Amino acid sequence: MIKTEFTAVVPVAGTGTRLRPHTYTYPKVMLTVGDKPIIGHILDDLEGAGIKKVCMVVGYLGEKIKEYVAKNYKHLDVAYVEQTEQKGLGHAIWLTRRCVTGPVVVMLGDTILDADLSKFMNSKEDCIAVKEVGDPRRFGVVEVKGGYISAMVEKPENPKTNLAIVGIYSFHNSSALYNSLEKLVDSGITTKGEIQFTDALAAMVKCGHKIRPVPIDGWYDCGKPETLLETNRHILDKKKFSPKAKNSLIIPPVYISPTAKVENSIVGPYASIGDGASIDSSIISDSIVNENAFIINMNLSGSLVGPSATVIGRKDQLNVGENSEIRFDKTACDI
Ligand code: UTP
Repeated sequence: MIKTEFTAVVPVAGTGTRLRPHTYTYPKVMLTVGDKPIIGHILDDLEGAGIKKVCMVVGYLGEKIKEYVAKNYKHLDVAYVEQTEQKGLGHAIWLTRRCVTGPVVVMLGDTILDADLSKFMNSKEDCIAVKEVGDPRRFGVVEVKGGYISAMVEKPENPKTNLAIVGIYSFHNSSALYNSLEKLVDSGITTKGEIQFTDALAAMVKCGHKIRPVPIDGWYDCGKPETLLETNRHILDKKKFSPKAKNSLIIPPVYISPTAKVENSIVGPYASIGDGASIDSSIISDSIVNENAFIINMNLSGSLVGPSATVIGRKDQLNVGENSEIRFDKTACDI
């Protein structure tokens, strides 16, 4: 448990282009991974670390997020700010300046961490989680001197280190952070077309602000179909579920929502079946089937099936969005 009362800032206003077609109709954080939407895992982790107050930046399809949070996290004190235009992560966090006083922890909406968050908040220093990655060019990258961050660059073409920023930041004095963001927003400076959080932090570091890089191993990205499936495998390995299905073979680890109907099928390993989904006569492994999807006679692996999608009759790999209907059981002449 944390000793000081931190406010958690969770920006979830992004359009999630890398997860299209699912994100055309669903905000990224509402996609299922394991046994619940991404945002559910993030809020559980924050709550587990003793956080009581959350400020969420919503925008694109934000109503769906608000609805889910209101229904499932009544006990958390959640405030919302709207980001009507996706101007970048720095802009999103700047918008929360009137929502936060005192210490703040920022947690990105597309990252699930397997790390002790209270460690960040109990540290007397300001901290940023980092991880060594193979190709740091698509991340914010830090340089370190004497145990503290000495420079930071967002998505550098020629990174000087392979230490990437991985989605959690803690600051004891939020006004220093918001002052730097304010200056950046006022200056109109953008990198790659967006007001970058990394640029505001880099300016603080340049002025001598001490930020400790905290290496973490358990970092699970949810930003792309393949990383979402990888994160799903991790969650299913970690949590133990007792899935139920009629006349079916279950190969663990598997999650089947109690409101899903699975019959005459082989499910697993690594399958997540969401609320109200219906599966009959199918073989499903290493896949996520979102709520109310309808699947018959399919053999799916490495697939994402969107909410309320209908998929009937073919062995293949699929990435199907919300409300789509794909049928392989009719010829063109039948339709
Ligand atoms: P990403 O950079 O992954 O953007 O944002 P995105 O829109 O979610 O996904 P892609 O890149 O288009 O596929 C990291 C986090 O910051 C939030 C996103 O919602 C995500 O949780 N974010 C980003 C905002 O809230 N506002 C922004 O302007 C940018």
